[in-house]
Amino acid sequence: MDLDSIAAWRTLELKMKWLGALFLLVLTGTGGADLPPPERSYKILMLLPVGSKSHRNVFMPLVEALADRGHKVDMLTSYDIQHQNPNIREITHGLPHYPRATINMFNDAQTAFGVVLTFKDQLSKMARDIYQVPRVKELYRKRKEYDLIVLNHNYNEFMYPFVHEMLFITIASAGMDPRQSATLGNVLSPAYMPTLFYEANCEHVFGRFANTVTSIAKPFYWRNWEVIPAVQKEINVHFPDLPPLLELERNQSLVLMNSHFSTDLTVPLLPFQVEVGGMHCRPAKPLPEDLRSWIEGAGSAGVIYFSLGSITKGTTLPTKYRNMFIKAFSKLNQRILWKFETDLEGIPENVMIKPWLPQQDILGHPNVKVFISHGGRLSMQESLYHGTPMVTLPLFGDQPINGARVIANGWGLSLNYEDLSVELIISSLEEVTNNATYVENVVKTSRLYKDQLTSPVERAVFWTEYVIRHRGALKLRSPAASLSWVQLLLLDVLALFLLVIILSLIVLHWIFKTVVRAVFGIQYLKKKFE
Ligand SMILES: *[C@@H]1O[C@H](CO)[C@@H](O)[C@H](O)[C@H]1NC(C)=O
Ligand SMILES: *[C@@H]1O[C@H](CO)[C@@H](O)[C@H](O)[C@H]1NC(C)=O
Repeated sequence: MDLDSIAAWRTLELKMKWLGALFLLVLTGTGGADLPPPERSYKILMLLPVGSKSHRNVFMPLVEALADRGHKVDMLTSYDIQHQNPNIREITHGLPHYPRATINMFNDAQTAFGVVLTFKDQLSKMARDIYQVPRVKELYRKRKEYDLIVLNHNYNEFMYPFVHEMLFITIASAGMDPRQSATLGNVLSPAYMPTLFYEANCEHVFGRFANTVTSIAKPFYWRNWEVIPAVQKEINVHFPDLPPLLELERNQSLVLMNSHFSTDLTVPLLPFQVEVGGMHCRPAKPLPEDLRSWIEGAGSAGVIYFSLGSITKGTTLPTKYRNMFIKAFSKLNQRILWKFETDLEGIPENVMIKPWLPQQDILGHPNVKVFISHGGRLSMQESLYHGTPMVTLPLFGDQPINGARVIANGWGLSLNYEDLSVELIISSLEEVTNNATYVENVVKTSRLYKDQLTSPVERAVFWTEYVIRHRGALKLRSPAASLSWVQLLLLDVLALFLLVIILSLIVLHWIFKTVVRAVFGIQYLKKKFE
């Protein structure tokens, strides 16, 4: 596929999507497709008191689709955003313990270990304080009025008191979490499955060794050693009679995972693990006039889109790096669209700066050739969906792993901040814009991703309602979930085997001795009487 035909494909795809969406709208009156009509209006409580804006963005398409189907959704969040839809009510807890949106990721929590320690601190403070917030208390008191609770899987263990004796499902906003999967009875082999935030080279025995050790050590550290015990201690103060948090966790009916095999690792899944990756991805809408004419005015050189996401503000980008980018951009033929929160001095002619940009509409424009991002999961999914190659600048969390995936899949390049230079920025951007393999790979993935029988949102809605319809859908659960790890790894069976072998050896030994004694004994006696 050459570049022109790819651009043509993307334009066509765009038009087709719009026609399709319009057709559906006319046909059904709503955005929904072939879902069975809801049996009644459900009351659903969404809990995502901790998590960045991107966690919230993973939830919102489902929330909106449920609301469109007439269900009432109450959301407990950490952001003060009010929704227009009358079926959605957002409740903010107002606690300041999770200042992820304001901290400067270039200064703080650079090391993985530092991140875990801040989590321990923040999550136990949340556990201590959240049940004292009047609005949360009220919600807790009324929780049994809800048909279902939907919980953010990542970092929200302190919310499990809410789900005691309740129907609940989780959303894994970072996709497959092998720790969660194992808890629910689907143990993925560390021979190929990386742990969250760490990926070793599994083709090499040392890589698999490291992977196996981290697969055991990290969950143990989080669940049994450091973080959850601290959270549990605080929870015990408020709820002395509840089962342990980790036991409540096991009672979840379903996991909606923000992943898809076309863009993530292909792994064995059980029926309760439903892939709904990229729910937030949608066809591009027409751009505002100023952006459209600017992007199209770039001609065949095209446009580079630069945004570091919602947590890492452009303004926290250290001046050293900022100046490198400005200098590099001034030497490029492309135009650059840069999401940056304030004005910048001395920016070259070919750079346009805006505090906010309609990311998906930009990525979907055929003249946008590269996306320079922080390598966050949602940005990566959007880039793949719209078929735009990437240059990622990972900083923390899952970003380094995502960067490694970008390289391994040939979706683009990934750069380390430590190595950054004007020359490296220029050569990387030139490589990704000039070498057609990147856009070819991304478009291939995009086509694979879009080739689905149902849309991710439809699947999420269907399974959410399914769990309510079937009162927890216990049949979805794996019998493995109720086994202890000793039982699951067959360690007791192994012990039994050993016992049988040892006993057999003892018996054999005894028989052998008796026979020998009998044979030689008789010979000995014979000798005596001859
Ligand atoms: C486990 O979930 C079921 C419904 O799925 C619920 O009826 C039951 O009370 C829950 N058990 C606990 C201990 O929360
Ligand atoms: C284009 O990129 C691919 C993948 O990185 C590489 O194998 C290939 O040699 C590059 N082609 C050129 C002409 O540089």
